[in-house]
Amino acid sequence: MINKPPLTALTQIPPHLQTIADYEQQAELHLPENTWHYLQGGAMDEKSVRNNLSQFDEIQLVPRLLNDLTQGSTQVEILGQTFPHPIFLAPIGHQQQFHPEAEAATALAAEVLGSNILLSTFTNTDMRQLKKENPLKWFQLYWQGDREKSLALVRLAEQHNFKAIVITVDSPHTGIRDRERRVHFQLPEGMQHPHTPTHIPLPELRADQHPVFEGLMQIAPKWADIEFVIANTDLPVILKGVLHPLDAKKAVEIGVKGLIISNHGGRVLDTTICPLHALQNIKAIVPNEFPLLLDGGIRRGTDVFKALAMGASAILIGRPYIYGLAVAGALGVAHVIKILKEEFEITMALMGTSTIPEINKDYISQK
Ligand code: GLV
Repeated sequence: MINKPPLTALTQIPPHLQTIADYEQQAELHLPENTWHYLQGGAMDEKSVRNNLSQFDEIQLVPRLLNDLTQGSTQVEILGQTFPHPIFLAPIGHQQQFHPEAEAATALAAEVLGSNILLSTFTNTDMRQLKKENPLKWFQLYWQGDREKSLALVRLAEQHNFKAIVITVDSPHTGIRDRERRVHFQLPEGMQHPHTPTHIPLPELRADQHPVFEGLMQIAPKWADIEFVIANTDLPVILKGVLHPLDAKKAVEIGVKGLIISNHGGRVLDTTICPLHALQNIKAIVPNEFPLLLDGGIRRGTDVFKALAMGASAILIGRPYIYGLAVAGALGVAHVIKILKEEFEITMALMGTSTIPEINKDYISQK
């Protein structure tokens, strides 16, 4: 089979792109086949990828009517920071695969639309290229194998006005990605990562040593490393990828300031608990106002509402904004955020809620 060459990015948004699903279809036309599979795929049988989407169908909305909504606002406060709305951009590395302007385009769109961006350690764009004055940016840290190298990235993020350190803790090993292997996916040769080597050097192993437990697990972060980061920065430290309530409890105890409830878009461990379900379990165990963010499967403004009603302080989108990036660079990312934000605003209005703190479980019915 001969694959058609990918379309180049658009410079105007055509009228048939009205929803995230429209962007998903269009994005496939703009990407080489194996990049598309990298983006869409997940671990093993991709059950978690699908469950992340279907989890929102288990919840139905119960609107309230006739309330005065004329003072409505989507503003949220998290860790003393004010955000115009709760739609954040999840950390995604290697964005040059999707558009030559990569994270620079994503950051520009995020800035214009007031979205908090979580910049990945695996960014192709140097963090110093993001607008320093804009406070709507957090830095996502992948553990660098040792404390000194990890702390160096924290320092750089502090100096460049990033407002939180988000440590991804759910992937000490990459997922078993059958789909990627079938299409021989590899990152493009020579791709630049200004802040990290693509592979952290592994300890030299003898033939009798175990490649997983004596290899990667040696350089994986442990609780004491998280405590070390907390003790060495004034920025709030947030953990991403927590699903177990006892990990949430431990995180609170050691001074973590927030959690991102996530199964990494279904890309690491398949058949995990759905993020919404985990959120419910974790909400029951952490202090009342403790920030819990959620990602995975958000495709509609109604999904944003449901996540907030279940107790999320904000949500993150991943693949959706990459669809926008692939289709039309910064313009496409901005349009994707705008679509979701407008859907969310209209959902709030139709649900009879004028502010984010009002959104709670009274507005939903769980199947
Ligand atoms: C890396 O974090 C990935 O999900 O590919």
